Amino acid sequence: MFKTRITDLFGIKHPIIQGPLGGGLASVELVAAVSNAGGLGMITALNYGSSQELRDAIRQTRKLTDKPFAVNVTLLPTMRRIPYEEYFKAALDEGVRIFDTSGRSPEEFVPMVKQAGGLFMHKVGMARHAKTAERVGCDVVSVVCFESGGHPLPNDVGASVLIPACVDAVKIPVVQAAGVADGRGLVAALALGAEGILMGTRFVMSEECPFHPKLKEWFSHLTENDTMLVHRAINNNERVVRTPFTEKILALEESGAGLDAILPLISGEKVRSAYVTGDTSNAVVTAGQTVGLIHEVLPVREIIERMMAEAEGVMRKLKRINANARE
Ligand SMILES: Cc1cc2nc3c(=O)[nH]c(=O)nc-3n(C[C@H](O)[C@H](O)[C@H](O)COP(=O)(O)O)c2cc1C
Repeated sequence: MFKTRITDLFGIKHPIIQGPLGGGLASVELVAAVSNAGGLGMITALNYGSSQELRDAIRQTRKLTDKPFAVNVTLLPTMRRIPYEEYFKAALDEGVRIFDTSGRSPEEFVPMVKQAGGLFMHKVGMARHAKTAERVGCDVVSVVCFESGGHPLPNDVGASVLIPACVDAVKIPVVQAAGVADGRGLVAALALGAEGILMGTRFVMSEECPFHPKLKEWFSHLTENDTMLVHRAINNNERVVRTPFTEKILALEESGAGLDAILPLISGEKVRSAYVTGDTSNAVVTAGQTVGLIHEVLPVREIIERMMAEAEGVMRKLKRINANARE
């Protein structure tokens, strides 16, 4: 058992959080399974086209679990007007009290959640942003690092430096949202000062995640060398699986091609529908470097139980090493 400020604050058994997963991947079944297994499941609000759909998802999740779960609102750098406030209001109204944001600063939404007695977690990618999150009232920061799936910052700092830098910068608890897929990673994160971990890629490779079976099969054979960063040139750094198509996009970006040339390639229907069709020929599929550590699709409960058993084993091994040194 690992008891930290994160397990206490969120009322969960294990310091394990499921990260927001766009493209419909954070299904209600996945969210509930994580919470039922003692972690914190997280609904991804933007997977739902309206606040009413989000309400329905919260109600469905409640039917599947009586444990705490969170709602993430990804604050996109987009011109499209998204009614963020409506999503927050709907979730609060439905009784959700744990919120997570990513993207830009959540400052304008923090008071609404705090006034309702809720908890606010925010994703950051550098120590300076962790300080800002703390200053605007966040209760927890989760730290995205170089290894992460999704959108790591273009500063290219890995977890072994970024986590302690953030832990030193703030008093609120820090969650490592990068590079963890097993019990070894969990103990390493705790050793760096994090009080919990958040995983995306490992949960994508769960039985409950509606990621296309062909993509799960593809992922299971990838190595630690098979991801790359794209879209740095258009200010939207993203870690994706390396394919001829993503190499082509990167080459275009590095050649100085403008948004007009790149956008049609990366926003087409085939790109968006890859998760459900399994067709990777034009897909830009995000994954963390941990994809090289995950070779099996497992039920969520088994992912978490194995992780905790492995973490206990690592702790025993470290204690033995420490005892040997004192002999
Ligand atoms: C397929 C996929 C989709 C994701 N979608 C989102 C998203 O919509 N919003 C967000 O804030 N993070 C998103 N992320 C990032 C995860 O929430 C998490 O921060 C990240 O995956 C952690 O790193 P890991 O992949 O090494 O576990 C996504 C990650 C993956 C792999």
